Amino acid sequence: MTLAVHTEGLSRRFDGVTALDGLNLAVPTGSIFGFLGPNGAGKTTTIRLLLGLLEPSSGNAVVLGRDVRRESQAIREQVGVLLDSDGLYERLTARQNLDFFARVARLSKGERDARIRALLEEIDLWDRRDDPVADFSRGMKQKLALARAFLHRPSLLFLDEPTAGLDTPAAVGLRSELVSLAREEGVTVFLTTHNLLEAERVCDRVAVIRQGKLLAEGPPEAIRGGGKRKLEVTATGIRPALVARLMNTPEVIGADVDSEGRLILALADGAETAPLIRLMVETGVEVSEARIAEASLEETFLALVDEDLNGRSRVESASGEHPR
Ligand SMILES: Nc1ncnc2c1ncn2[C@@H]1O[C@H](COP(=O)(O)OP(=O)(O)O)[C@@H](O)[C@H]1O
Ligand SMILES: [Mg+2]
Repeated sequence: MTLAVHTEGLSRRFDGVTALDGLNLAVPTGSIFGFLGPNGAGKTTTIRLLLGLLEPSSGNAVVLGRDVRRESQAIREQVGVLLDSDGLYERLTARQNLDFFARVARLSKGERDARIRALLEEIDLWDRRDDPVADFSRGMKQKLALARAFLHRPSLLFLDEPTAGLDTPAAVGLRSELVSLAREEGVTVFLTTHNLLEAERVCDRVAVIRQGKLLAEGPPEAIRGGGKRKLEVTATGIRPALVARLMNTPEVIGADVDSEGRLILALADGAETAPLIRLMVETGVEVSEARIAEASLEETFLALVDEDLNGRSRVESASGEHPR
């Protein structure tokens, strides 16, 4: 497996703030990689470090085989970017915008015309090619900015919150254009988002970051436990000692108490739930409801973020080591 992006201990401090703290990341070539985290997590800082627009405070990063400190110019020439501003010229038409950026990228006249037509057709803006961008909706502008990022056939694309500020239909449209373009052209995509559904729908792999620290990394389904099932138990009389016992059974790989006071048990593959219910009943718990559900990425994400916030895991608190 080759890597499009590889970082080791990548860190960046601003005065008092540690924006990025020892990031170790490996982005496989050809993947759509989601960098997921709440506002202020360090996502934009990471992209700026990978583009060589910011100096790391410590650590290393290699992008397309090039060192970000020494070869950032070459990196910037080889990648496509869509950062917070779309960078389009409002008074120019869609076609004039793309033609301008294609000239900057030194494409020949023939290449420019063919490429621009193919991209505008792909994003359904060929019919609007001669309209000024000022007349476009935000969603159309963002699609055009996406086409611009693909223009010079980059092998790696950095997209910083590409659907931020779009309404739902526009965001859905942009996501589908992105996925089809990326697959068609075999481009590696490094995409930041604070939208969990977006990460789950679009990305092959996801890294979760908070306060500059990596919390988890892997395919979305692995992060939420490989599509793991969980048992949600509504009951009275659950004591920390029981939770600890449940955690020691082979069926249970994690335990938590949700906001409604339900006990949530993450189940091992193929685990039977009957022995767990029996154990609860035998220890005097009154079970009023027990149901099996799938853990969502959102729950896993919130659990990870919450765990980090409290400096301890909710599972520990449920098992009584840290009384709540
Ligand atoms: N140029 C800067 N000067 C000072 N602090 C910064 C600067 N850029 C980012 N930060 C801080 O670094 C942290 C991460 O910011 P950022 O990477 O923009 O987060 P995200 O993109 O995930 O929302 C924040 O606390 C932010 O205030
Ligand atoms: Mg940001």
